[in-house]
Amino acid sequence: MQWWRDAVFYQVYVPSFTDSDGDGIGDLQGIRGRLGYLELLGVDALWLSPIYASPMVDNGYDITDHRAVDPVWGDLDAVDELIADAHAHGIRVTVDLVPNHTSDQHPWFRAALASPTGSPERDRYHFRPGQGVGGAEPPNSWRSVFGGSAWTREPARDEGPGEWFLHLFSPAQPDLNWTNLEVWADLDKTLRFWLDRGVDGFRIDAAHGMCKQLDATPTSSDDDPRFDQDDVHDVHRMIRATLDHYPERVAIGAVGVRNAARFARYVRQDELHLAVDTQLAASRFDAEEVRAAIEDCLNAVGSVGAAASWLLSDHDVSRPASRYGAGPVGTARARAMALVQLALPGAAYLYNGDELGLPDADLPDEARRDAVWHHGEDSRDGCRVPQPWEADLPAYGFTTGEPWLPIPDDYALLGAAEQLEDTGSTLSLYRRALELRREHPGFAAPPLPGP
Ligand code: BGC
Repeated sequence: MQWWRDAVFYQVYVPSFTDSDGDGIGDLQGIRGRLGYLELLGVDALWLSPIYASPMVDNGYDITDHRAVDPVWGDLDAVDELIADAHAHGIRVTVDLVPNHTSDQHPWFRAALASPTGSPERDRYHFRPGQGVGGAEPPNSWRSVFGGSAWTREPARDEGPGEWFLHLFSPAQPDLNWTNLEVWADLDKTLRFWLDRGVDGFRIDAAHGMCKQLDATPTSSDDDPRFDQDDVHDVHRMIRATLDHYPERVAIGAVGVRNAARFARYVRQDELHLAVDTQLAASRFDAEEVRAAIEDCLNAVGSVGAAASWLLSDHDVSRPASRYGAGPVGTARARAMALVQLALPGAAYLYNGDELGLPDADLPDEARRDAVWHHGEDSRDGCRVPQPWEADLPAYGFTTGEPWLPIPDDYALLGAAEQLEDTGSTLSLYRRALELRREHPGFAAPPLPGP
């Protein structure tokens, strides 16, 4: 059964969903306590943001051990309990997977810094000598997605001046070298580790990353040697081959590429099961623009027999209730777009809090935590503020402590408990839309006939 082809996935941004132990940061037991709510909402599966051991420079997307749970979220027992309980509620659990990079505190990266030039320890990452006098300039002009150069120079070493290492995101997230077979073997081990524990699949972070053409000169302005290189499809074939040993598990990519034809390559029959479309989220509230994004994606995935997968927002972009306009206009448009999203054929991705119609929070600079903010870019904290559950409780029921990001006062009007009672609320609209999907199955495009 290809359950994912029309499933509704609910993204739990773990730090901001529910805190069970009063440290102000969401956790696995907190999610477990909300399964009744999620069942009532009517979602089919969860996507958990990274729960692995991490110094939290990028809220868990900087990982020191892909097969351990960070204590801030809980432990392996808590994962097992969450999976078992979610399954009992009829909800599947998928987890984030971050294959492009590790934390700079990962034992591999520490070993790399402590090892000589050209050693196997350094080959798991991308180290290069600098250019110019004394190697003081980065090896090339690549930019990091978070702003600034994609290269950072390591400190000088006994054997001579430091080399530079590549990081397409923050300097605390060195990129792995996907021509190194140890890197492949380690990912396979990670996949099996979590599949054996019963997860239903993976959301693969930056699935168009991993392989790069470090020494290539771009041949055209939209040819980006950092991303979407042909070799990355071999990585996805490996992931798929492993998943195929486990029935009904799913690999879903966050794929940001330059056009629909490139996008479709990721969901060919031996690669990802689903790739999350980003065009819909990037479209303005404009019928022609929305229609073009939808048709583009449907044509692309249809050409390879895959189902589409729609997303309006996630923890990286402005929330729909703010993005489409301020105040009641933004809310009305966000509600309309939710209905568009949920009426489309294929799978749908909901971001926690959008079902409550949360707007972005306007945070004072001193409260911002996002790694991007420290690199001079706009911070993503506004869309990551903790979820309000009950207006009358301290921190609206998110925590008994101090929330890790301040929750704005106007979230008091958007608590889940109050919205459940109000048939005109955004939450009721979402519930009704999900109910209609269930009453009218057949949302997914039919798969291509087999060979
Ligand atoms: C995630 C971001 C993260 C980045 C680096 C993205 O795909 O969604 O939140 O900062 O990857 O891991």
